[in-house]
Amino acid sequence: MTRYSRITGTGSFLPPNRLTNAQLVADLAARGVETSDEWIVERTGISARHFAAPDVTCSDLALEASRRAIDAAGLQAADIDLIIVATSTPDMVFPSVACILQHKLGIAGCPAFDMQAVCSGFVYALSVADAMIKSGAASKALVVGAEVFSRLLDFSDRTTCVLFGDGAGAVVLEASQTPGILASDLHADGKYVGILCVPGHVSGGQVIGSPLLTMDGKAVFKLAVGVLESAARATLAKAELTEADIDWLIPHQANLRIMHSTAKKLKLPLEKLIVTVDQHGNTSAASIPLALDEAVRSGKVKKGDVVMLEGVGGGFTWGAVLLKY
Ligand code: ACO
Repeated sequence: MTRYSRITGTGSFLPPNRLTNAQLVADLAARGVETSDEWIVERTGISARHFAAPDVTCSDLALEASRRAIDAAGLQAADIDLIIVATSTPDMVFPSVACILQHKLGIAGCPAFDMQAVCSGFVYALSVADAMIKSGAASKALVVGAEVFSRLLDFSDRTTCVLFGDGAGAVVLEASQTPGILASDLHADGKYVGILCVPGHVSGGQVIGSPLLTMDGKAVFKLAVGVLESAARATLAKAELTEADIDWLIPHQANLRIMHSTAKKLKLPLEKLIVTVDQHGNTSAASIPLALDEAVRSGKVKKGDVVMLEGVGGGFTWGAVLLKY
């Protein structure tokens, strides 16, 4: 009998400190940085984001989201036999957030590792967990996207600091006799490393180079709209489905204009687009599982719905996972 993988539980967590555009605009004005609610909403669709307190780590956010996902799946932490955490903002250089999360969940023994593909991290992680389940290497995987992107922001750069937020989302992916994950399609092109990066690194007890995010927004925008369409089409072709079969589109939540353009290219009505970027900002690897969990808990995404998840981000990386929820 063919072995498939299926999402059996979702969870998410946002740190309680919610900053509206008005609050952020006032904070930035105090630093001499000029921006406005109108500019941010018109160019990005973002109205608010959450920032973690200074002593809260990526694994703290991941833990809350994971507990909710495990609970929703009707499992105990001890049932989990694989942990993958997609993140670019780990607690420490090493060990991985996945290992720290495993310990915080009170379990030991199962493989646990991080996936670093920036904003595409969650679709990369889900695709790897799917392959490991299909191969028999795992049966009950915890796949998490968690970020404290606020730590990487240059609050003197208005072109980037208004875009990002912190948060975590998680799913439990279990072996199943019926298909959940239908197809996936992953890509990267390293020649674009420079358009979106945090170039700093640790050496000899010091951070060498800038530890803050730098982005050529226009170049990222242009690449994103192209690859999100091609990844969706490639994934549909692998699953032998068409755009008309998609019930919900959950793209990486970076910019509402990119998301609308993707829905339009796929000829999907905007009612099928899940949007959380307005309330969360861009939470990088956490954005897709956060949006999925909100869509499940609000009753939009129901059992049996066909859902297209799409990630795009630094690397340059991009990819899609098509699934039956
Ligand atoms: N407030 C007010 N004005 C601003 C701000 C701001 N926060 N930021 C930029 N501006 C100004 C610029 O200085 C520029 O002024 P000028 O014309 O006098 O030079 C003007 O607004 C227009 O700037 P653009 O960069 O052309 O604005 P654009 O419409 O391209 O929007 C944005 C910028 C929002 C960054 C957009 O390019 C974008 O969303 N890019 C994609 C980002 C993305 O999707 N990232 C996903 C991956 S993230 C990851 O992997 C971590």
